Amino acid sequence: MRKISVFDTTLRDGEQSAGVNLNFEEKMEIAKQLERLGVDIIEAGFPASSQGDFQSVKAIAETVKGSSVTGLARSVQKDIDAAWEALKSAEEPRIHLFIATSPIHMEHKLRMTPEQVIEKAVESVKYAASRFKHVQWSAEDASRSDFPFLAQIIEAVIQAGATVINLPDTVGYTTPQEIKRMFQYMKQNVPSIDKVSLSTHNHDDLGMAVANSLAAIQGGADQVECTINGIGERAGNASLEEIAVALNIRKDHYETETGLILKEIKRTSSLVSKLTGMVVPNNKAVVGANAFAHESGIHQDGVLKNKQTYEIITPEMVGVSSNSMVLGKHSGRHAFKTKVQELGFTGTDEQLNNIFKAFKDLADKKKEITEDDLFALMTEQTVGGETNHYELQALQVNYGSNLTNTATITMKLPSGEVAEEAATGSGSVEAIYNTLERLLDAPVKLLDYRIQSITGGRDALADVYVQMDYQGVVSSGRGTAHDVLEASAKAYLNAVNRTINRKKYAEVYGSKVEV
Ligand code: KIV
Ligand code: ZN
Repeated sequence: MRKISVFDTTLRDGEQSAGVNLNFEEKMEIAKQLERLGVDIIEAGFPASSQGDFQSVKAIAETVKGSSVTGLARSVQKDIDAAWEALKSAEEPRIHLFIATSPIHMEHKLRMTPEQVIEKAVESVKYAASRFKHVQWSAEDASRSDFPFLAQIIEAVIQAGATVINLPDTVGYTTPQEIKRMFQYMKQNVPSIDKVSLSTHNHDDLGMAVANSLAAIQGGADQVECTINGIGERAGNASLEEIAVALNIRKDHYETETGLILKEIKRTSSLVSKLTGMVVPNNKAVVGANAFAHESGIHQDGVLKNKQTYEIITPEMVGVSSNSMVLGKHSGRHAFKTKVQELGFTGTDEQLNNIFKAFKDLADKKKEITEDDLFALMTEQTVGGETNHYELQALQVNYGSNLTNTATITMKLPSGEVAEEAATGSGSVEAIYNTLERLLDAPVKLLDYRIQSITGGRDALADVYVQMDYQGVVSSGRGTAHDVLEASAKAYLNAVNRTINRKKYAEVYGSKVEV
C-alpha cells in the first residue's frame, strides 16, 4: 500500500470561507483535534497576513507535536521571514510558498511574464530553503496552466530546493481525467520529479473536489490537501472525511493508506461545524445526520437481515456513537474526569472545575448526559476565553400567542455597571434581541440565526449560531444553553464581544491581508 500524507488546511483555506472568523482559542482547539485525528500536516494559517495569524501559527507549532505544522507565504522575503519566525520552533519547520502559473493569473493578476514568474519562484524557494528543512511550493491555478511551462517551472524550483510540489485546482475547474493526466505528465516530463513529493489541492466549484483528489492520487500524488467538512473559499475545498473514508473503503481500488484515526472523524467534523458556524447538511457523505439513516422499508429490512446490504460504512468506523447515556446526576468527579479526558480534554484544573459545575447544573435539568453533551460543555469552556465586555446576568421573557412579547434583561456593561432594560418584539427572540440592542451603544443588523439541538430528546442542549453586523464589522457568535432563549441571548452577546475584541486587536496590530 502506498502511503498518502494528509495535509489539512481547515485553519488556512477553510478559514477563508465567507463569514468564518476563528479566534485564537478556537484555532488551537481545532489544531489539537486535527492532531488526534492523525493528520500528517496542519496548515495553521498565513503568518504574514496578520498578527493574529502569526500568533496562532506560532502557538500551534509550539504545542502540536504529533502532526507537522506549516504556514502559507507569498513569494516575497517579508512573508518567508514572518513564516520562519512563527514556525522555527516546530520540530521540522515547513513552509508553503505559492505563486500563480496560469496565463490568466500571470498576465492579469501578477502582471508578470512567465520568465519573471520563474525567476521570482526560484528566488523565493532558494531563500526559504536556506531556513526551512521542508519547502512546499504551489503553482496556483496549476490546472489551467500550460503543462510544458508548468514542467519547466517545477524543475527550476526543485533545483532551487523545493521538497514538495503542490498542483492546485484553484478555481475548481478541472475533471478527474484531466487532473490525473496533469500528474502523469509532470511525472514523465520533469527530470527531477522523483526527488520531491507531489501534492494535490482541489476546490469544489463544480462539485468534483473529492473525485479530483482521488484521481490525482491515481495519477501519482503522494499528498492530499483538504479541509474538515469541505469548508473553504467559495464552494469549499475537498472534504477530508470523504477522501479518508473513500481511500479506506476502496483500498482494493486505490491501493493506498493514510495514517488517519477514522473514529475521530465525526467529533472533528462536529467541532469544526460548531466553531465555524458552518452547518453540516443532513445528507453530507460520511458526517451528515442522515449518512447512516435507512428510510425505505425495503432498505431497513435488508439492513436488519445483513447490514452490508445497504451499509458500506459503519457509523462506528467514523466515530458516530450510539450516543447513549455516559454520565448521570449521581456520577462522581472521578468518573467525570476520566470521561472528559477520554474525550481529549487537556485543559487546566480551573477549566475542569467549571466543566464539572456546568455538568452538574445540566444533570439537574437533563436525565441523560451523553458524550456529545459533555463535548459541548468542554468546548464552551476551552474556547470560551473571549473577553466579555457585555455579560448576561438575567433574562426574563413574557410570551403568549396573542400577547405582545416582552423581554427584560439585566446585563453587565463594559464600564462594570449593571443595567436593566425591557423591549417588545413580534416573537421571543426578537424581543430579546431588541432589548439587547437597547443595552448596546450601536445598532445591530442580524444577518443569520440558526439553532440546532446537540442531541435528540426534548431536554437536549440548544446550540445557537448568529452572524451580525455590529459597528461595521461582520462577526459570528455562538451560545449553548439548556434553554433556546438563553442560548439565543448568549450567541448574540458572544458576537458583540468578539467584534469588540477584533476591533481592539486590529487597532493595535492592523487588519488581515487576504490571499
Ligand atoms: O487554491 C489554491 O490555489 C490555494 C493555494 C494558496 C495553494 O489555496
Ligand atoms: Zn485553495
